[in-house]
Amino acid sequence: MIFEQIAIGGCQSYIVGCEETCVAALIDPEIRAIDRYQAIAARDGLRIRYVIDTHTHADHFSAAHELGESLNIPIVMHRDSPAPFADLRLQDGDMLMVGNLRLQAIHTPGHTRDSMCLLAGDRLFTGDTLLIGATGRTDLPSGDPDALYDSLFGGILRLDPQLKIFPAHDYKQQGSSTIAEELANNPRLQKRDRSEFVDMMEHLNLSMPTHLTEALRTNMTGGKSVAQVLAQAAAKIPFISLAELAARLERGENDLVVLDVREKEAFDAGHLPGARHMPRGQLELRVDDELPDPMTRIVTVCEFGKISTLAAATLRDLGFLRTSALDGGMKAWREEGFPISSP
Ligand SMILES: [Fe+2]
Repeated sequence: MIFEQIAIGGCQSYIVGCEETCVAALIDPEIRAIDRYQAIAARDGLRIRYVIDTHTHADHFSAAHELGESLNIPIVMHRDSPAPFADLRLQDGDMLMVGNLRLQAIHTPGHTRDSMCLLAGDRLFTGDTLLIGATGRTDLPSGDPDALYDSLFGGILRLDPQLKIFPAHDYKQQGSSTIAEELANNPRLQKRDRSEFVDMMEHLNLSMPTHLTEALRTNMTGGKSVAQVLAQAAAKIPFISLAELAARLERGENDLVVLDVREKEAFDAGHLPGARHMPRGQLELRVDDELPDPMTRIVTVCEFGKISTLAAATLRDLGFLRTSALDGGMKAWREEGFPISSP
């Protein structure tokens, strides 16, 4: 079995594959590691055939949608997943053929209603149902401590004790464990009585994950995270450095338009010498009146360098093919001590 564990922060993803056929599945991909997964597959001569989310993640951004679309492969989730983009929906007991490797789904509701574990050979990919030294929490949307009790004690903990477990999270870099080790040492599994277990799960008093709303929005709908929108805009435009723009302005080169896309109050309070003002919200409406020549060289500027990135990408989409964005924004410009015009 080909096996690779990829850690991003506390999140764990796995590439499991079949050596004979060079076919692989990617389990619980995270958005920040998209290039890494593809690089590993290329390095090892693997073709990723399935991208699988063990459940609807509430605390990080799944790359399943983007990878499924870009690789043109099925996005696999449990049948109860709310994600409209999941196109291969497994039920308890269903098996995927990954070359000669069999990957069997075990429905394990509790952490979420759509949680499943995946059994492959001597390994069990437990998602957030069973973590090393812990369990998934049950206080997020569709969580249910009673169901988790059944999924654990009536389900995966009855499997072969020697099975190695690989969870979707491992905050302490413990690597892996086995069912037997967890039964012996996992503090949460010492509550074997249902009511004691449920009571413990209901009183964990965990803080809410940082990006809960955004993660649920994107993972449930297939929409993009704000960081993704920014990264995709940044990937299709060039940038110009603060020093390069300052030098050009100092030399009095008037072959470029510095376009400040902040709101009026911010622009009035101080802007780059010679900058023109067009708030990003009015860009599409005013651009033809204000910039009649699409060959104009434009540098967009905002406060932090993010909105200007979006504005530059929009201008390029509109046909202003010589648009770039300032690398950094007015905040960095001021901090570097470059000249400011203010009324
Ligand atoms: Fe989770």
